[in-house]
Amino acid sequence: DLADIGVTGLATMGRNLARNFARNGYAVAVHNRSHSRTEALVKEFGGEGTFLPSEDVADFVASLKRPRRAIIMVKAGAGTDAVIDQLADLMEPGDMIVDGGNAHFEDTRRREAALRERGIHFVGTGISGGEEGALLGPSIMPGGSRESYEALGPMLESIAAQVDGVPCATYVGPDGAGHFVKMVHNGIEYSDMQLIAESYDLLRQALGATPAELAQIFREWNQGDLESYLIEITAEVLDQVDAETGRPFVDVVVDRAEQKGTGRWTVQSALELGVPVTGIAEAVFARALSGHPAQREAARGLEGPSLSGVAGKELVEDVRQALYASKIVAYAQGFDQIAAASKEYGWDVDLGAMATIWRGGCIIRARFLDRIRAAYDADPTLATLLADEGFAGALAAAQEAWRRVVTTAVKIGVPTPGFSSALAYYDGLRRDRLPAALVQGLRDYFGAHTYQRVDKEGAFHVDWSGDRAEHTA
Ligand code: 6PG
Repeated sequence: DLADIGVTGLATMGRNLARNFARNGYAVAVHNRSHSRTEALVKEFGGEGTFLPSEDVADFVASLKRPRRAIIMVKAGAGTDAVIDQLADLMEPGDMIVDGGNAHFEDTRRREAALRERGIHFVGTGISGGEEGALLGPSIMPGGSRESYEALGPMLESIAAQVDGVPCATYVGPDGAGHFVKMVHNGIEYSDMQLIAESYDLLRQALGATPAELAQIFREWNQGDLESYLIEITAEVLDQVDAETGRPFVDVVVDRAEQKGTGRWTVQSALELGVPVTGIAEAVFARALSGHPAQREAARGLEGPSLSGVAGKELVEDVRQALYASKIVAYAQGFDQIAAASKEYGWDVDLGAMATIWRGGCIIRARFLDRIRAAYDADPTLATLLADEGFAGALAAAQEAWRRVVTTAVKIGVPTPGFSSALAYYDGLRRDRLPAALVQGLRDYFGAHTYQRVDKEGAFHVDWSGDRAEHTA
């Protein structure tokens, strides 16, 4: 008997994904470079379903039903190309290679084009939800040909998380679209975490609250608008006590946030597309700042205000509002970036559908995504989520608290780049006239870069060094 699908690369994510398919009734071919891992999987979890283990790649491919569907779950990078080549050499037109790692979308575009030439479908798919998600139901963001989705989609939908009976998996778009959307998902994940961290830091410094007290606050927040997986686990982490020292866990962890790079990619792509994703960028840079011990050491003695413990309890509700408002901004920016890439690469990504598949399974899963979906349902051409009636109302209700929070943070010297930049974006976007007009004037002055006028068509230039008369450029 042949397998419905195969998984090669059986580290935690690959193993759990294979088990998920098996538990859902699919016969799963499994392969790993070192065979012991394959054996361990079958030995430990063989009872969960049908596994077809193979020791080498040729057997692995031969054990797959046609059209063959093979998922690669290896560490993203050069290793992926080698595995793809091996598989492709053994496959036939119509077969499918699925890359479930966090690949860069440009790599996925290149690989998809190369395999398309050979008649093989290449599906670059985002898979979010960590080890637990992979096993119990992740959020799945597959890109590639429509045809490949017909053969693969139903299987992915059946192993994905389900919310209100709707699977958290759908066709994203051609070539790199799936990995692009996963990349932005991760960027938003960075931004969500940064905003949570700022909330924690500000409340701790301003109120002198303990991590355990803050855990309780996050637990309460998780009952309302902010309800989400990340808020839920923030309470868990803040409540944790270090067994060895009896101190709060958060106080024994080295304060250097690492990254594997998807957040950085998001910002790099945004710079190229010209989309201001300030929330994600500040989150990436905040991690970078934390990871520069020499500069931090050298700057440690610099002057600042000594005003901690200055705010009253009302700051808690203000911070909750600021967090919610900043979160709306970060998501609006992320969705803008997906829209811009979709246009640039001709992907035709359905933004509301992306919100739908992020409602469950993934790291940023939240009730909030339902509101985003509703916004795009109401107006699929929405220029910015901020203009949606519901979000505009929420921002209006939160904006005074948001300003108080940023003011307090500045006063007591707690950095809140996420809150501050989100507020600056909000104020920038809603402005009637921006000082960009002055920037244009300066550019025209020193570089004759020309400018447009508010009252007539055309490009103009002032003869700054001569009679200062305006000319048509
Ligand atoms: C997910 C996560 C996953 C991951 C990142 C973390 O969706 O399941 O986003 O992809 O945890 O690797 O990224 P950093 O190491 O860059 O924080």
